[in-house]
Amino acid sequence: MGRYDLALIGFGGVNRALAELIAARGDRFAEELGFTLRVVAITDLRAGSLVDTAGIDLAPLLAAEPGELSFAGLPGGSADPRNKWVIREVPADIVVEATFTNPNDGEPALSHVRWALESGKHVCTTNKGPVALAGSELKRLAAEHGVSFEFEGSVLSGTPILRTAQRLLGGLEITGVQGIMNGTSNYILGRLEEGVELPTAVTQAQELGYAEADPTADIEGHDVQLKVMILANEVLGAGLRREDVSCTGISGITPQDAQDAISKGLRWKLVGSAARRPDGTVEARVAPVALPAHHALAGISGPVNAVAFHTDLLGTVTVSGPGAGRTETAYALLSDIIAIHQHHHADDDTAPLHRVLQETHRG
Ligand code: HSE
Repeated sequence: MGRYDLALIGFGGVNRALAELIAARGDRFAEELGFTLRVVAITDLRAGSLVDTAGIDLAPLLAAEPGELSFAGLPGGSADPRNKWVIREVPADIVVEATFTNPNDGEPALSHVRWALESGKHVCTTNKGPVALAGSELKRLAAEHGVSFEFEGSVLSGTPILRTAQRLLGGLEITGVQGIMNGTSNYILGRLEEGVELPTAVTQAQELGYAEADPTADIEGHDVQLKVMILANEVLGAGLRREDVSCTGISGITPQDAQDAISKGLRWKLVGSAARRPDGTVEARVAPVALPAHHALAGISGPVNAVAFHTDLLGTVTVSGPGAGRTETAYALLSDIIAIHQHHHADDDTAPLHRVLQETHRG
């Protein structure tokens, strides 16, 4: 049975939820998936860093209130996040990057991912910034170092959108994608239809854990813009930059607008789309659209998301599921770890795997 030693970068909602899954279901994972998971390092902007190469005891960390967690004073702990040192020097198999998304230059997550790949460590991330802004470069870097760069959770949290397109739709041509890809804005639009004002609906979305730390990206469409870039680049081979994806959010829609639409048999939805033009280039946009009730995306409500793939051989294939939430996004990280296991180590029975990798590299 193999074992993966994890370094968790960022210990906010998502990586904490992954730690909870490991603590609660580790034995089940071992039985079902054929590997065990051990956390050997955690770094966090507020809590600092904690390293124990024999495996961190997660229970006391998970028992503490998130806002009160501090690693200073613990054995192997420091008030300083020491991200670069932890990522490069602590022997881990997989670096799990779940810090905040920076849509402008992807930092500091982009550097975290580069350091990990350059150190010969697999990376899985839910962070849209590095994937949308530097996905091709990072995949090249991973290939050069013989490791994986996995990012299923960057689009629709744990709902397997990217792997569906890459693994299950082979042999046909995807001509376009269209989706509801932001749970917060979709939830808010539903609340507006019920007559709730925008600020109240935003607060509720934050309390439910759907919204980004700064909900502006959810409301103004920038979160969807990054997801459209990722989908278009991964699925349509587009190579889009942010400025190639026009972007309008939902802040201009009032409860009255939402209710007027309902009375006409329409529903406002924030739709992200990308489609191949006849000349082969890709056109992409994010905008609110009043969809007729019969449209496949009109019935997608609350934090649920959906992506419709337009294909030549199957027509439209729609995948729907959660698009946000701590545990749902943490599941995406587990699915990335499973993908790494299947790709690199499914036949190994030696632990720990970073030693296998190091020995392989030494030749
Ligand atoms: N805040 C996002 C949403 C989740 O509401 O869909 C992460 O992308």
